[in-house]
Amino acid sequence: MKIINYNLIIVAVLCILGCSKKENINQPQKENMEKIQVSDYGVTAKGDSIKKYTLTNKNGMKVEVINFGGIITSLTAPDKDGHYEDVVLGFTKPEDYFNGNPYYFGALIGRFGNRIANAKFILEGKTYDIDKNDGPNSLHGGKEGFHTKFWNIEPVKGAKFPTIKLTYTSADGEEGYPGKLSTTVFYTLTEDNALEISYEATTDKATFVNLTQHSYFNLSGNFTKTITDHELQINADKFLPVSETLIPTGEQKPVKGSPFDFTVSKPIGKDINVTNDDQLKKGKGYDHNWILNGNGMRSIAKVYHPESGRVMEVLTDEPGVQFYSGNFLDGKFDTKTGGKNEFRTGFCLETQHFPDSPNQPSFPSTELKPGQKYQTKTIYKFSVKK
Ligand code: BGC
Repeated sequence: MKIINYNLIIVAVLCILGCSKKENINQPQKENMEKIQVSDYGVTAKGDSIKKYTLTNKNGMKVEVINFGGIITSLTAPDKDGHYEDVVLGFTKPEDYFNGNPYYFGALIGRFGNRIANAKFILEGKTYDIDKNDGPNSLHGGKEGFHTKFWNIEPVKGAKFPTIKLTYTSADGEEGYPGKLSTTVFYTLTEDNALEISYEATTDKATFVNLTQHSYFNLSGNFTKTITDHELQINADKFLPVSETLIPTGEQKPVKGSPFDFTVSKPIGKDINVTNDDQLKKGKGYDHNWILNGNGMRSIAKVYHPESGRVMEVLTDEPGVQFYSGNFLDGKFDTKTGGKNEFRTGFCLETQHFPDSPNQPSFPSTELKPGQKYQTKTIYKFSVKK
């Protein structure tokens, strides 16, 4: 009897050890991989100490974000051999982000992504003059837009995947815009290698809002190479032609039969240099808003880089996307992989409402009133095609 009892005890103890051993192997490993690390990044001229938040998922993909401008300074994605490399353009020196960031590398853009004609709009019968920082127009919220602001960042406890919450309150009148705007942005790195960006805002006076993210991608992982070999598909049958100063003319033009047709995937460089296209001339390449097909959260674009096998899919609930082929990159700064950030070495797919919406009543409205909540989401999802 006693022997049997001992055997049972031994079996029970072994079972408990076995079970707990299994837990010890799986749990801590997952926790070690999926994490958010905080480190010092630099100090601005105003004396703000800037921190870097590194989100890592269980596959080892990493996204680095700083609390200046909500800027994504690095984002890694796997190639066809499982090799993770940084695929977003950025500066090598923190000061270059702090002192103007002329290309808006990686930044959160607000209050209004893209251009507003003559830096003016009328709202509830009153004319507002906003910051004029792009010829006669206002671009990306003005010179001191959200890309230059100090954002409060906190990791979100209990989130399913590594998530950080960024908050910034823009004072009534900032850069000329009415209303105190309370803005929240969440960056989440999922386990299927997607970066999800959720935007929210509320105001205490009627205002206009159009937030976006200004990361430049180069899926080759080599920032000296141009992006003209990347194959792009955009789910849009129409785009918005622009004036000399890149303001939509109001026309919604079918892409069919023009260099703007990306309904079927083609290399970005295929038609970019077509010389007799007036719109390509005005944009110095692609720098236009495509009117996305469909509504609600949907897949709107796919980019494939044949050499590395990297694929980036973009999903959003926004009505438009600005596809910008990096035509104003001018080689003044070093890239993170050596050489300079030259012409067309990165592209942006900025999901947003249409440019100049405040002045174009035929476009979907960008007005936000007190009591309403601005809410939008965009996903950049990375995978490979062999
Ligand atoms: C605009 C470009 C502009 C660039 C600034 C893009 O969103 O469409 O015209 O030059 O931002 O980096």
